[in-house]
This record gives sequence, structure tokens and C-alpha cells, in this order.
Amino acid sequence: MSAASAVVVPMNQSPTWQAMLSAAQRLQGTTLNQLFQQDATRAARYQMSAAGLTLDYSKNLLDDAAKEVLLQLATQAQLTTAIAALFRGDQVNNTEKRPALHMLLRAPQSNDERSQTVHATLARLEQFVARVHGGTWQGFQGQRITNVVNIGIGGSDLGPAMVYAALTPYHVAGVRCHFVSNVDPLHLEQTLQQLRPATTLFVVASKTFTTLETMQNAKAARQWALAAGMSPAQLAQHFVGVSANVAKASEFGIDPANIFPMWDWVGGRYSLWSAIGLTVALGIGMPAFRALLSGAHAMDEHFQHSPLAHNMPVLLALLTHWYYHGFGAQTHALLPYVQNLHLFPAFLQQLDMESLGKSVASNGTLLTTESGGIIWGSAGTNGQHSFHQLLHQGTRLIPADFIAALTSSSTNKESHLHLLANCFAQSQALMVGKSLAEAEQELHKQGLSEAEVQRLAAHKVCPGNRPTNTLTMPALTPQALGALTALYEHKVFVQSVLLGLNAFDQWGVELGKVLSTGVYQALTSVDACTAFDTSTNALINQAKALA
Ligand code: F6P
Repeated sequence: MSAASAVVVPMNQSPTWQAMLSAAQRLQGTTLNQLFQQDATRAARYQMSAAGLTLDYSKNLLDDAAKEVLLQLATQAQLTTAIAALFRGDQVNNTEKRPALHMLLRAPQSNDERSQTVHATLARLEQFVARVHGGTWQGFQGQRITNVVNIGIGGSDLGPAMVYAALTPYHVAGVRCHFVSNVDPLHLEQTLQQLRPATTLFVVASKTFTTLETMQNAKAARQWALAAGMSPAQLAQHFVGVSANVAKASEFGIDPANIFPMWDWVGGRYSLWSAIGLTVALGIGMPAFRALLSGAHAMDEHFQHSPLAHNMPVLLALLTHWYYHGFGAQTHALLPYVQNLHLFPAFLQQLDMESLGKSVASNGTLLTTESGGIIWGSAGTNGQHSFHQLLHQGTRLIPADFIAALTSSSTNKESHLHLLANCFAQSQALMVGKSLAEAEQELHKQGLSEAEVQRLAAHKVCPGNRPTNTLTMPALTPQALGALTALYEHKVFVQSVLLGLNAFDQWGVELGKVLSTGVYQALTSVDACTAFDTSTNALINQAKALA
């Protein structure tokens, strides 16, 4: 790997970075249990609320001095200036020469020309949603739309699919939404098996309208519609588009009147707030969609105007930075104890890993530190019966965020309290652990022989001292979900500023796309493939043998 230009002062050699390393070393000599014993006010002091969310970050290997060093790192990285530049609409995406103004999509209307276009588009969405829900938008046989299929991938799928699943209690009656993303033809086919062409609306969502998966699925969906007897003109009643490339969308055959715009200043993974959210708006109704936007806006306001020391996205980002760079952590787990947030980790994977998975800083120099980590997780309590074992007793440090809604829309309060109990007990267990003495005592109580106690005790030890955050909200409302999602968007931005990289491009995904064209050609040619490396040739020839 070669840098585009020489590194002047590697950020990890700055005095503040070195101070962070010393602080981390010092904290490694203490335990979370000790930190709590030393300070009765710790839980209250290491807690904050914003935009309807409460963050408990007390179960972190952090004290006031270490927090101060982290805040100095933020100051050194000129975070306040960077936040101002982001909101001002500077070209923070410098490789593509674009601003990243997803916050405009959820802000009240202003004099800014872009804001006017955003609100005009929202008004168009509102009218369209009203027509579909009111039954005045009809399919080719005069029937109302009962099913909506979102065809999109990456940011044109993960955000909308996550929000639709998260807000299940808000689904409007009479309309069901489906999300098709994978170019595996079974994804579309198995979805369509449940549907009737006459009552199905396709939302083809693609910022570029060139993405292979989306184009393939949209073409196959169009074939399905034509095979059901629709005339080419009637397709307009069943296909609408969302794109920044209106020309391409109309070239595909979507009526320009039914193409909802987005703009190049909205990154794909930040686009669920734009017309890319059309399927969500159809699924949950416009009032709930607007509440989602207002929750995100409340978090934007908090992020933009709060001092760094009391700024939720900043604190979360500093803590992740602390573990990645001070403690050598490689990964971060997302553990929503809310079944309806089961797609949240997948959404965050794209948001975080596509934004921070870089090796070169914004200024073209090679990074001299690790960049983004590995994001993963699943909805609790399922994880407790699979991967939590590794969290409790594995050898790796895996900081985790627990997310809980304090009330549920379910009437089964008993089960919901078990859910909460498990959530809170997991972070407690990860912190307090179980010592060898406690393990021995437990086994003695069970009446085991001394030999058995000695044989088993070490296996039962949980080292504890494993850091976690817990985010809570009164209920998973559209407003709270908007705030939660914007929280992580801004967290990722802060991490990018701390590392000096551009969070808004994703050049790495291009190579595979380009190579797949050549591989596709080889798969469809009659000749045996010898054009590539021997492994790729063999894989292609294996598939061709069965074609
Ligand atoms: O391949 C990555 C990516 O460019 C994502 O950043 C984006 O969200 C996704 O593809 C889909 O892109 P589009 O909305 O243009 O189809």
C-alpha cells in the first residue's frame, strides 16, 4: 500500500493520543466494580438524556481524568469545527465533492433552496400516500393497492426495512410492505409468490438507478407484471421510483410523474429520511413518518448545539474510539432488547462499516491507526442462547451497546419485564462477573465433593469487567426510533473526525462490482474459463459444469 502523500504527524504520536494510551493502561489496572465502589454517584454522573433517549455509560472503564483526555482528543481533531462544517453543508465528502446534508431531510423548512425541495417532495409523498391509502390510486384492474414491494439494496433497503420492522405496531391496516434486495432470484420470486399483480405496487428505490441487483429485480418484477396481463402503459400504476437519477428511472419505464427525487448531497446509507422512505411512509402512514423525522431532528439539534462533554453521539464515539485504540478492541456489539429492532444491527453495519472501513485519511495519507471496527449483534434475548457465551467468558474485549424500550405495546407485561430483566442482568453480569471463590462456594453449596469443586470451578469463572452502554427509551415510538438512528449516524461521523477520514464515500465497494462483470461474462460464455487466477477459474468452471 502506498500513501498518496507523506504523513506529516501521525495522529497516534500526538501527545494527546499518548495521554489516551497512558490513561487506558491505568484503567486496565482497575475494575468496573472498583470504579463503582469508589464513587457512589457514578451511575448518576455517567448518565445523560437527549431527544427522549437516556444513555447510561457508567459501566465503562472510564474515569473523569480519562474522559477529559478523550475530550481533548476531540478538541485536537477540531470536532466542533467539523460539526459546524457538516451542518453548514461544506463538502465534507471531499472525494466526491459533496456535502452530507441528511439533517436537512428532517429539519423544519427554511429559506435554503434545498430545504424547499425537501419539503416539496415530502408534500408529494404525502399526496401519494393519501391516494394509495384512500384507494384512489388503483391497480390495472381498478383494485386498491394492498401490498408494496420495495426493490432496493444497501441504503435503499436496510434503513427502510429496519424502520418498517421496528414500527410494526404502527403499520397501517390494509397495506403490507415487503423488501427485496438480493440478486438471488429467489428473494423476489418467494416474495411475489404471496402477492397478486393487480394489488401490488413496486417502489424501485435506487439513488443511482444503475445498481445491478435493483435493476435485475426491477426487470424481473416488470416481467411478472406483464405476464399477469398488464399492458406496458398500465405498468405506470404498479411501478413508482425514487432516485437522484430521474433520467435513468424514466428510461427504465417509470412515468416521470411517479418518480420521487433525492439528491447527491444525501448519501445512500443516510437516505431513509428522503423519498427512499416512501415504502416506510406507505407502511406506517405519513404522521408516523413525520414523527420519525422529528425524532431525528431533535437528535440533530442536540448534536449540533450541546457541549462535547454532554453530547450523546460524541460520548458514544469517544468510548468506541477509546476501546479500539486504547484497549485494542476490534469489534462492537449492538444488542437491542426489542424484537422489533432485530434489523437495527444490520442497518448499523452498513452505516458504520461502509463509513469507517477506510485505510486512507481525507487528506490522502495512509491512516497510521486502525479504522472502523466490526459491527454485529442481534435482538435479545436470543443472543444470550448463542453468542453471549463469548461475551462472558471469551478472551476478546467486546464492548457492547444494550438498547431497551422501558414499555411495550404488548399487553403481556410479564414477558416484557422478563425481557428488561434479562437486558439489565446481562450488562450487570458482564460487569460484576463471577470470581473463582464465588464459583467454588456455589459448587460447595450444591454438595459436590472437594475434588469435583476443584475440577469445575475454573470453568464457571466469569472474569467480568466487560464494558457496556445501555440506551433506554420510554417506548419504541417513531420519534424515539428517529432519535436513535440519528444518534448512531452522528456517532459514526464523530469517529470519522477523530480518525481524520471521510465518512461519506465508499470506493471499496466498486472493485467487486467491476470484477463481477467479467466473471458474469465468463459464466455465460461457452468456453471453459482460463482468464483469471486458478481459484476463480475453478469456481466458474464448477458452476458452468452444472449450468
Ligand atoms: O454498493 C454500495 C452502495 O453504493 C451503497 O452505498 C448504497 O446504499 C447502495 O450501493 C445502493 O445504491 P443505490 O441506491 O444507488 O442503488
